[in-house]
Amino acid sequence: MNLKTLKDMGSLAGKRVFVRVDFNVPLDDDGRVRDDKRIKLAIPTLKYLLEQQVSRIVLATHLGRPKNNEANLQTDNVALKAAELLGEPVAKVDDWGENGLPEAKIVMLENIRFHPAEKSKDEAERDTFGKHLASLADVYVNEAFSNSHRKHASMTSIPKFIPGCVGLGVEKEVEAISKAITDPGRPMIAVIGGLKADKIKAIHNLMGKADRILVAGALACNLLKAKGFEIGASKADDEGMEEQADLVKEVVRSDKVELPIDFVVADDFSETANIKTVSADSIEPGWMALDVGPDSADRYAKQISESKTVLWFGPIGVFEMKPFANGTMVVGQAMAELSGTTIIGGGDSASAVKKLGIADKMTLVSTGGGASLEMIEGKELPALAVLQK
Ligand code: 3PG
Repeated sequence: MNLKTLKDMGSLAGKRVFVRVDFNVPLDDDGRVRDDKRIKLAIPTLKYLLEQQVSRIVLATHLGRPKNNEANLQTDNVALKAAELLGEPVAKVDDWGENGLPEAKIVMLENIRFHPAEKSKDEAERDTFGKHLASLADVYVNEAFSNSHRKHASMTSIPKFIPGCVGLGVEKEVEAISKAITDPGRPMIAVIGGLKADKIKAIHNLMGKADRILVAGALACNLLKAKGFEIGASKADDEGMEEQADLVKEVVRSDKVELPIDFVVADDFSETANIKTVSADSIEPGWMALDVGPDSADRYAKQISESKTVLWFGPIGVFEMKPFANGTMVVGQAMAELSGTTIIGGGDSASAVKKLGIADKMTLVSTGGGASLEMIEGKELPALAVLQK
């Protein structure tokens, strides 16, 4: 990928710069930032811009998937965290600059997904909003790799109106992923866990790339259900599965795709619930699968240890709770011991390897789940495609 970088933009002295960051970070119940990794990633770019003596930095991010502009998804707390990490004041505004911006060097706009045009399906509507955002700056910087698979106004429309480039973090991440997936060592294994049914599409695409796909998390239960198994009270995304019914059929038929043979189940979503291990065909009504069982974990670990490239997206079980952390631990450990290429994608898997203390044993821990997965699948990321040289 031949992307325009900050260096390609020449001197930025006196310029107003719009930086689209991804500060979509986990928050505590009181709204405070629980994990600031994504904010930290943007700091070198912001420092670079300040050193360049830009006249203003306008920051924009999305936070969560808002439905009704929920107060807990306003960007005040991420602005505070960014100010703390940068050591510079960040002025938060409650709109998107429609009424002008304060006389501050660094300004943070309100959650960009509160604006109805940001995710509009209508390109013209997105472009109108993008044109307004572009009017706040002279130069656009995409420092939001993890949102670059989204065709949203702040990602793909703004650079239609002002010159744009990628930030230092995006540059580094794209380079690292490209390097890891160009001519990967084989066997190549993908471990796909987590919740989101939209990963079915990724599994389907990976069927043409990976030698084996090991499925875990709630996703595995969804696929078992599609095969006619009883999954009790386990999480199921029926709507998401329904929408992709044709893909699901192909995925469950594929001999590359492996599902767990046993699960750790509980009668409540709690570590103090009644807990037992059962085979995949014996989940009773009222019980929910919260981790893969020990036999599945061992089978997955063995295959990982015999491979040359492993991609891991999405946790294996509810690793935040001790009784359901074994699958994630066993898979993480097997990857940490592998001498081949190991790529972790997505916030939850990244937190899991961090918690296990093995993040530095991986070839790459990507900030983006969906974005890095799509890049590995060989798809074009629309927000990067518009920033090619
Ligand atoms: C992410 O967390 O993967 C990115 O911020 C994109 O968020 P989204 O999946 O809500 O679009």
